[in-house]
Amino acid sequence: MTPYVLFFFILEKEKEKMKIKDLFIDFFVSKGHKQIPSAPVVPENDPSVLFNTAGMQPLIPYLMGEPHPYGTRLCDYQKCIRTNDLDVIGDTYHHTFFEMLGNWSLGDYFKDEAIEWSFEFLTKVLNIPVEKLAVTVYAGKDNIPFDNTAHDKWLSLGIKEERIARTVDDNFWIAGETGPCGPDTEMFYWRSNEPVPEKFDPEDERWVEIWNDVFMQYKKNSDGSIEELPKKNVDTGMGVERVTAVLEGVNDNYMSSIWSDVIELISKISNLPYEGNEVSMRIIADHLRTAVFISADPAGIKPSNVGQGYILRRLIRRAIRHAKKLNIDVNSDWESQIASLIMNKYEIYYSELKDNRNIVLEVLKNEKEKFNRTLEKGLREFEKVTRDNKDLDASTSFRLYDTYGFPIELTIELAHEKGLNVDEEGFKEKFKAHQELSRTASAGQFKGGLSGNNEIETKYHTATHLLNAALKQVVSKDVHQKGSNITDERMRFDFSCDHKLTDEEKKQTEDLVNKWINEGLPVKVEEMKKEDAIASGAECMFIEKYPDIVTVYTIGDNVSKELCGGPHVKNTSELGHFKIVKEEASSAGVRRIKAILE
Ligand code: ALA
Repeated sequence: MTPYVLFFFILEKEKEKMKIKDLFIDFFVSKGHKQIPSAPVVPENDPSVLFNTAGMQPLIPYLMGEPHPYGTRLCDYQKCIRTNDLDVIGDTYHHTFFEMLGNWSLGDYFKDEAIEWSFEFLTKVLNIPVEKLAVTVYAGKDNIPFDNTAHDKWLSLGIKEERIARTVDDNFWIAGETGPCGPDTEMFYWRSNEPVPEKFDPEDERWVEIWNDVFMQYKKNSDGSIEELPKKNVDTGMGVERVTAVLEGVNDNYMSSIWSDVIELISKISNLPYEGNEVSMRIIADHLRTAVFISADPAGIKPSNVGQGYILRRLIRRAIRHAKKLNIDVNSDWESQIASLIMNKYEIYYSELKDNRNIVLEVLKNEKEKFNRTLEKGLREFEKVTRDNKDLDASTSFRLYDTYGFPIELTIELAHEKGLNVDEEGFKEKFKAHQELSRTASAGQFKGGLSGNNEIETKYHTATHLLNAALKQVVSKDVHQKGSNITDERMRFDFSCDHKLTDEEKKQTEDLVNKWINEGLPVKVEEMKKEDAIASGAECMFIEKYPDIVTVYTIGDNVSKELCGGPHVKNTSELGHFKIVKEEASSAGVRRIKAILE
């Protein structure tokens, strides 16, 4: 390479690095925003969701009015995971993991600046011609009026009236059922070689949504009522995968630069072309990327049969099944090659991929080895039981789960491929009965198998309630839970507290928990109305996130009473010995305890 060629080579590489994420952050920093780091994919202080599903999720307390330590203008790229429509993965544009770009105003600027900057970024930085853009604005309903500010702003920037559509349902945004919310304006890009129509029709799929600016000035309560927030906020979200595909002019996200090398590698490993094998290759690429990010997360999630661990298990096992479909030798290091490539691509943005690289590879390998031991036999069994093309009953699908480790969703997928159905309800009943059995079996009659993790995690779960109660007695009645995370090896508990615990406080807390364990207190579970639960003094973290009828767990004679989904042990005597291994700061005014049961 001559120095001249080398120069251009470096320049090209540099450009590649200046990907959309960097352009976005640089732009908003130039508009006075502070970049905040991406929060972990497993929420640290919000047990109501398994994963962060939007950039705003970790910012909810600040959108509700708490001051943010970085100020009132923020921007970031946030790792998000959405697993509610896992079975649609395999098409051209759904992903379980994705990155969301966002900028926020916490009571600072509002609609004018937000729209102006969105427009400037799209047209001046990404160089999208204005003729290829269209927008929607909130049409107005009940007490919330038509958003003429947003409408007029777009007009003033040069978006024609025919390109501004008004809707109600698609232009009001909320993360779940309750919380901060408001009208929004969405931006669309014309992704087609056909001429751009004068009039914008949001139902025409050639118009692809690329960005959403939400004007969060309301809060929705659990009774459905809406009230004004103390401050007017802006929350925006742009999906990196989508916008990259759009800008690179590809109709299949997996053909964009985000994925093309991963697909190429899968094609090389399987010795098959992408054409004709798209679905399995997309599933492998998507699921392994998500599994990488879950297992690299500081929460220390491992494959298991509950919560995030179960999602991780399903993703890995489904990827393995599709690798087998492509005739990949599933005992080779195929998963490690793919995961390594993914980590290489992302580690400059997410340091946990560098720090936890070996952990990730080990999680994938262990789960692969575990599943491979039964996969072959399980698939043969599946073929046998479906030979006569009859739907699968509950006992069969439960046997596939219990003996061969087939997550029910995998059995359903296999069945659907043959045009058969599975008795899901029946499976759930059997599953529940099995859990009951394994819970009462900690004496040892029924150990091992898939129930192992569950029991340990259940014990830790009950221990968090005891710890919460003990801290209230020893440290202050104002101690409240701020988060928790459980693996089969330890528990982590975050709580509000303004000081580092003294050795004396730690010892007293530990002693009190162990006293309750030794007393063998019964754990009682009841269902009641949410108001009654609160009136009876039951603790809970995010009251507005619970349904109207809640489950309350009471330990002993009011030693602890909390709203909780369970599961818990039946008696504290099952827990063993409780030990605090670490006490440290978590964030401002929040301390974190790590503890184990021995
Ligand atoms: N929170 C908004 C969304 O996810 C920006 O679309």
